[in-house]
Amino acid sequence: MAGAGGVDLLAEQLVAAVGAAHVLTDPDVMAGFERDWTGRWQGRARLVVRPGTTAEVAQVVQICAAVGVAIVPQGGNTGLVGGAVPDAGAVILHLGRLDHLDPVDLTSAQVTAGAGVTLARLQDHVGAAGLAFPVDLAARDSATVGGMVATNAGGLHVLRYGGMRSQVVGVEAVMANGGIVRRLDGLIKDNTGYDLPGLLCGSEGTLAVVTAARLRLSPLFAHRVTALIGLEGLPAALDLVARLRTLTSLEAAEVMFASGIDIVCAHTGLPAPFPVRYPCVLLVECAAATDPVDDLAAALLAAPEPLDTAVATAGAARAGLWSWRERHTEAVNAIGVPHKLDVTLPLGSMAAFESEVRPLIEKVAPGATTVIFGHVGDGNLHVNVVGPAPDDDGVDDAVFRLVAAHHGSISAEHGIGRAKRGWLDLTRSADDIAAMAAIKMAFDPGGLFNPGVLLP
Ligand code: MLT
Ligand code: ZN
Repeated sequence: MAGAGGVDLLAEQLVAAVGAAHVLTDPDVMAGFERDWTGRWQGRARLVVRPGTTAEVAQVVQICAAVGVAIVPQGGNTGLVGGAVPDAGAVILHLGRLDHLDPVDLTSAQVTAGAGVTLARLQDHVGAAGLAFPVDLAARDSATVGGMVATNAGGLHVLRYGGMRSQVVGVEAVMANGGIVRRLDGLIKDNTGYDLPGLLCGSEGTLAVVTAARLRLSPLFAHRVTALIGLEGLPAALDLVARLRTLTSLEAAEVMFASGIDIVCAHTGLPAPFPVRYPCVLLVECAAATDPVDDLAAALLAAPEPLDTAVATAGAARAGLWSWRERHTEAVNAIGVPHKLDVTLPLGSMAAFESEVRPLIEKVAPGATTVIFGHVGDGNLHVNVVGPAPDDDGVDDAVFRLVAAHHGSISAEHGIGRAKRGWLDLTRSADDIAAMAAIKMAFDPGGLFNPGVLLP
């Protein structure tokens, strides 16, 4: 039997807290929790513990704190910056069993969801009550509420509703001392000091363990139209999006490029979206209580050049148009382990950045494959580079420095995780980082939660 910090005693205490079935120590079983989705980030956990209630999470935190064993909170493990991958010897605190969903509160248009509820289940649940959840993303079947809060997830609808932080009315979270902060009453106004839910949103598991969230809901629109538009390049896409922003129904504006679409088609067997191979393809979607098709058509017809456009209003046909965009992530992963560089630029600098970044990558990593796509309405490009070894960060460094030169940010929506913490000072000042470090120290003085993530 190992000593006080030994694996056996720790496992025994955790088994007593959550039950033997929920403490995983078999290396084969743990493997899926230790590696991130891209394959770039690989850790080695001491064990995986799966508490079933908030009280059990608090017990787990207290047990680990008592022996000084680090905790890595994990939800659907769909993050793309290594933020849920453990340092050697850490405990993975998996929140999947916290999957309770309260009935939808129609009076306030809110719902309380456990950290382990998947986005798809949340969407179905609120949809059955006649409402929608404003945040949507392609990993919806696996991404969970807790992880989406912890990473302040963005996704496809940010230009209309904002990201996850904008939907969080309150959270429940377990602190490093085992205390529980619970703000789930759904108060729309509550001006009583520091906004802890807002602070935990985007804290990447470094301050506390989010166990539930009270979420704002949006109308479930009866009418939705999706259009795919072939264009000459990103400047044309930006001009068109500027025009479409006047539509109050505009919900998504996504961009992709010819070489990425080729890779998607090769991987999925999808046909090319147009007979002409356009350098750039824009996907826009509008949703409203009354049919937005005429408004969208009028805005597209007012464009200076005729546009090659495919339009769909029925569910399956719209999903078909989305597939070229949504299947980029899996298609990129299929050609190799990607460097996923999720960046944001001032809209006025996006086109210059895009034209500069491709030759820059070719210079730093000759022969690498670059696939760019993203949320053009938000100034957010996903620069994916396949070719350099996972631990060769030369291309990451070059791209982040170009972003900084354009006054952008090295993370738009994926967070910092392990992937980007070495570059945080490129786009956050020394005073910013000192303030963040002071907050970390106040919440987690022992460095229990997610060491090696976010802060340099
Ligand atoms: C997306 O927009 O599809 C996601 O952020 C995933 C990705 O960047 O691959
Ligand atoms: Zn994205």
